[in-house]
Amino acid sequence: MQGFAAPALKKVRVGCIGLGMRGPGAVHRLANIPGVEVVALCDIYKERVDAQQAWLKKNGKPPAREYIGPEAYKALCESDLDAVYNATSWEMHVPIALYAMEHGKHVFVEVPSAFTVEECWALVEASERTRCHCMQLENCCYGEAEMLALNLCRKGLLGELVHGEGAYIHDLRDLCYADWAPKPTKDKYGYASFWRLKHNVKHKGNQYDTHGLGPVCEYMNINRGDRFDYLVSLESDQFNYEFYGRSKFKGHAWKENLKVAMGDMNTMLIKTANGKSIMVQHDVSSPRPYSRINRVTGTMGAFEGITFLSDYADAKGNLPEAKDVLCAGGCHCRFGWGEKPGDPVHGYFDAKESDEMREKYRHPLWRPEISKVAKAIGGHGGMDFIMDLRWCYCLQNGLPLDTDVYDLASWCCLAELSERSVRNRSCSVDIPDFTKGGWKTAKPLDIVDVDLKKMGFDVNNIKKDNSALSV
Ligand SMILES: NC(=O)c1ccc[n+]([C@@H]2O[C@H](COP(=O)([O-])OP(=O)(O)OC[C@H]3O[C@@H](n4cnc5c(N)ncnc54)[C@H](O)[C@@H]3O)[C@@H](O)[C@H]2O)c1
Repeated sequence: MQGFAAPALKKVRVGCIGLGMRGPGAVHRLANIPGVEVVALCDIYKERVDAQQAWLKKNGKPPAREYIGPEAYKALCESDLDAVYNATSWEMHVPIALYAMEHGKHVFVEVPSAFTVEECWALVEASERTRCHCMQLENCCYGEAEMLALNLCRKGLLGELVHGEGAYIHDLRDLCYADWAPKPTKDKYGYASFWRLKHNVKHKGNQYDTHGLGPVCEYMNINRGDRFDYLVSLESDQFNYEFYGRSKFKGHAWKENLKVAMGDMNTMLIKTANGKSIMVQHDVSSPRPYSRINRVTGTMGAFEGITFLSDYADAKGNLPEAKDVLCAGGCHCRFGWGEKPGDPVHGYFDAKESDEMREKYRHPLWRPEISKVAKAIGGHGGMDFIMDLRWCYCLQNGLPLDTDVYDLASWCCLAELSERSVRNRSCSVDIPDFTKGGWKTAKPLDIVDVDLKKMGFDVNNIKKDNSALSV
């Protein structure tokens, strides 16, 4: 399936399964892409399907077929459509993906698409046997800073890449302990039966690595010229979840004294077959600012950052105070020895220079005509839209997708393998080669793009949509 392209689809008919906090945004994004129709909606809860059906009606889109109940996804997968969009809770990712492929449907699965080595092999085998795409919906690969970094790497400005760093550092304690709400809103949300917290109660290791790792793998051509060889993983003990439970839920039947297996900070190190290194961190329970780190170094330069300082400027263009900037991350890069005269060691680009770099090396998928639409339609500042736009464009034009089932498997199997390392005094653990040697000859991901005109996009006619949560 490396480089696999399915026959072009004039119209992409999608069934969306899982309409909780994340799924509705996907319905809205897909329904806004020309040549894409949301033909089916599915959830366990009728009110969640009703809400999306109402949104389609209000926005002048054709009504979708409705599938309600825990097993209703089967009838959806058996019905006449091209692709299944799976934004369900974690335990349903693999069963639905397998069922969809067995019924000839391409499948797009939220992160993390799988948690064990066995599940990853099952997805690889199903995709190979059925010739259906099985792509993980790793939206962070389409973030503006990540795509800028990809562009720099592709243009050779960082030289030969040596080391990459990514992370998922996101304080999710409020979300994990929140009680369930039938209709998720900005103030009322929560996971049914606390499914996300329950997973962390049981597991150690990096259980959610792909936001930080995925982009780094694209920069470093993992599975396309290089591959993961082995990992080691080390984790702090658990303090923050339990402190939070004790302080916030005094007297609560189980929240006050809940014991959580997952440590607060997990650090995983990966060595690649070509001798490169990658660090990935995971911390969803510490009171600290969000970060994906997004750092890559090479023989000629380095890039780091997830945000652009100018995005934090006020209406007059004033940048925030240094303390706020620290929380926002900032975007630094230094590359191509000629670019930055003066001190080559401490000479990071400042905010103004970073912005000049942003313009000069902007990835084509973030050019103004696309980013304007992406920001209006939304989803994490537009990256969710660009991800969906790109895979829909690939299906419409019979192109290979940017990531495939082997990427999904190599990124996701690390949940089990990092846990194994943590539980064994951080011993090294071999990582399977899901490509079975294909990584040696597979071509690196190109500087990808879409042709909005060909898609029939009227960029001046896009309405701003704030109705879905951007979680
Ligand atoms: N890529 C991102 O930035 C990002 C952000 C948030 C969440 N996520 C991922 O999205 C997924 C969903 O997260 P969420 O926050 O929306 O969770 P959620 O619990 O709010 O939503 C999950 C939905 O799936 C439905 N569901 C569960 N089992 C089902 C079944 N058998 N059939 C049909 N529907 C079923 C639930 O009823 C619920 O409405 C998770 O995998 C999460 O990791 C990704």
